[in-house]
Amino acid sequence: IDELLAGPVAGKRVFVRADLNVPLSGTTITDDGRIRAVLPTVKALAEAGARVVVASHLGRPKGAPDPAFSLAPAAARLGELLGADVAFATDTVGESAGATVAQLADGQVAVLENLRFNAGETSKDDAERAAFADLLAGLADIYVGDGFGAVHRGHASVFDLPARLPHYAGHLIATEVGVLKKLTEDVKRPYVVALGGAKVSDKLAVIDQLLGKADRILIGGGMAYTFLKAKGYEIGSSLLQEDQLAAVAEYLERAEKTGVELVLPVDALVSSAFPDLKAKAPADPTAVAADAIPADQMGLDIGPETRKLYASKIADAATVFWNGPMGVFEHPDFAEGTKAVAQALLDSEAFTVVGGGDSAAAVRILGFDENAFGHISTGGGASLEYLEGKTLPGLAALED
Ligand code: 3PG
Repeated sequence: IDELLAGPVAGKRVFVRADLNVPLSGTTITDDGRIRAVLPTVKALAEAGARVVVASHLGRPKGAPDPAFSLAPAAARLGELLGADVAFATDTVGESAGATVAQLADGQVAVLENLRFNAGETSKDDAERAAFADLLAGLADIYVGDGFGAVHRGHASVFDLPARLPHYAGHLIATEVGVLKKLTEDVKRPYVVALGGAKVSDKLAVIDQLLGKADRILIGGGMAYTFLKAKGYEIGSSLLQEDQLAAVAEYLERAEKTGVELVLPVDALVSSAFPDLKAKAPADPTAVAADAIPADQMGLDIGPETRKLYASKIADAATVFWNGPMGVFEHPDFAEGTKAVAQALLDSEAFTVVGGGDSAAAVRILGFDENAFGHISTGGGASLEYLEGKTLPGLAALED
């Protein structure tokens, strides 16, 4: 983008593909981190006199308008953060979008309605995506890719559109890629990775890669129970991905052979039912050893001994990458594990990277100072796929 800003952009229509996929409760944004992350790019373009057209997806609507997934709240928040009026088009490539973009003055910003209200955005059919990308291209003169959270998607606005316009990477993408490079090239050791989240299937590929790169991998969250089961423990009614047991068992074996420390919880906070995340009524959890989870109980957070263990494993790290909450942090009774890992990152002198929509949101929702971390990535799947060494369509499209 520096190259773009060095030339004349005043009066040019610049399409900024952002990731404004923020968590919402009704129409209230519960974490605006992704909107703040794109501000440097939007501000720089507006200040240079460009007519800025911001586009994003939000959630996973089914290729047709759905008010529950409107970007209107995100557009309003972007306006507040910019301290300027932001126009909002109630469609993406229709009449409203055309008129909104045509009325933009130099230095003004508009947000288009959710890209995924159009089936062409996510279509697997190349021609359908291309047709939608052609319509988007009609709204702009220049493309700036800055939706790091979506660069792993081969979608029309991420992959097909840049080929149709002069294209540049925005500030956020440049920062994110710079940081993730530090984890893949010449990482400072000990390199400790803490992985949580519900599903082990989302993390298999990254664990596979990290078994050859990290010195220690700490496992938490719902996915930990599939590991405990693979070790032969009874896990009660905890989350289990039975079809992943064989893969997980192979990782445990490989870790032992290669000397990578794959560390599992030694205890868990359990309860008889999944907690009520709305009313947040007390769930009365009990701490039990990881090999003694009662049949009628489910693990919902790492226990106090695991909190200490994981903090000690992080304490002497030189680099830490953390992705995924350690428990159901949205309920106060099961937030301690996630808090303990966040605190351990802050207490260590390591270069710390928090990756992932959920863990980034957890850090902010639990009240930590986000600036105290080395880097909080806006990408969940995107940062994991980067670490897996995959080619990310949204980066490849900007590189040529
Ligand atoms: C994310 O939240 O990881 C990105 O916004 C991508 O969203 P998606 O998984 O629905 O494509």
